[in-house]
Amino acid sequence: MKVQITETVLRDANQSLMATRLPYADYEKILPVMDKAGYYSVECWGGATFDSCLRYLNEDPWERLRNIRKNMPNTKLQMLLRGQNLLGYKHYHDDVVEKFVELSIKNGIDIIRIFDALNDFRNLGTALDATMKYATPNTVASGCISYTQSPVHTVEKYVEMCKELKNMGFQTICLKDMAGTMSPYEAEGLIKGIKDAVGDMPVILHTHCTTGMAYMTVTKAIESGVDVVDAATSCFSNGTSQPATETIFYALQQYGIESGLDEKVINEVNDFFKPVKQKYIDNKTINPKSLGTDSQALVYKVPGGMLSNMIANLTDMHAMDKFDEALAEIPAVRKDLGYPPLVTPLSQMVGNQAVTNVLMGERYKQISKEVKNYFKGEYGIAPAPVSKELQDKILGEGGEPVDCRIEDSKRTGEEFRKAKEDLGDLAKTEEDLMSYICFPDQARKFLESRKAKEENIASYTIEAID
Ligand code: CO
Repeated sequence: MKVQITETVLRDANQSLMATRLPYADYEKILPVMDKAGYYSVECWGGATFDSCLRYLNEDPWERLRNIRKNMPNTKLQMLLRGQNLLGYKHYHDDVVEKFVELSIKNGIDIIRIFDALNDFRNLGTALDATMKYATPNTVASGCISYTQSPVHTVEKYVEMCKELKNMGFQTICLKDMAGTMSPYEAEGLIKGIKDAVGDMPVILHTHCTTGMAYMTVTKAIESGVDVVDAATSCFSNGTSQPATETIFYALQQYGIESGLDEKVINEVNDFFKPVKQKYIDNKTINPKSLGTDSQALVYKVPGGMLSNMIANLTDMHAMDKFDEALAEIPAVRKDLGYPPLVTPLSQMVGNQAVTNVLMGERYKQISKEVKNYFKGEYGIAPAPVSKELQDKILGEGGEPVDCRIEDSKRTGEEFRKAKEDLGDLAKTEEDLMSYICFPDQARKFLESRKAKEENIASYTIEAID
């Protein structure tokens, strides 16, 4: 028996504990060491890393990926992709999704873990097809289910979802428990049920320590036949992050289960990241709140990233006194939206709307554009019926959501032409155009600063020659 580990320090641990502010330069040196650890994969890209590179770190996300690839030639590099949302917060057209996947593989990604916030699997199809189309021998298309609890989310429903993912052509299945609310008992029922239904496909468990449940849940998942568990090097583990790699390693050892990990190397990785973490605690990028255990999340179902973002936003607005109230508003907004799983972009939508409802002192006095679009049907089908009252308020009396996606998805190349026109000589590669299509303002800012830097170097060179 073998249970392998996906190391998340570069992506999800970074995202959950420090709002994805870890620059590439901080971990470049350890990559060749990580390459020898024996992980199933290293999750290093996708999720919020792309946006954060451009928005906060003045880094080219594509260059980051190429650099990681160069320094970790032997490890499977993994990214998280939000299906038709890619790495942004809205639906992109099919041609954009296809190109994005093509470029991700070309720049070094092996495993693409694809999910849709609403588990509306129509939103996974384009990304899956593109993954197969541009696949190398190392490419794996991993179908991912956003796990949540609600009156409509039963074990039977999840097993059906897994069968559907298998039929679609995914090669592995990941259960993604963003909020860390999956209990050991639920993990057992789910993993056994899924293994019975699609036994020949590797099943992966992704959870967070937010509620303190994760180690128990992982243990039960291991006993129930899970193949891969996501974990973070111990100094970047726990709190809103994943359970600790080394801890799971030692537990597996006692079970007599092979993990493939090299004990010395995983400890070296942790030693490297200790001062990195300390630096971000000292400069307050890591909020001590995100390092603790919050069992209230078992009630509120709030994923780590969402919690740390909400804290950051409320702190910015000097409204941390409204924290508990905003937290309590989340389940109410979620019910109105038909119990969507709280994962990006739904977690932001629900979180921001809950904060707005509380700060305005009146529910839905102000409704975000995203929530309006959600009710219009732009994100897919809600897991359960939405609030009729709110739907009428947004769509007008008797208004019905429409499926915007299918009609829109026919056009080809339009956005690339527009991006080329907008950027002129700022864009040097297809990757530049893609960054701009995904995050226009942030990408432009980055490309302009890159150009300025290059011009500085150029003029310096000329002076030096003279
Ligand atoms: Co996660």
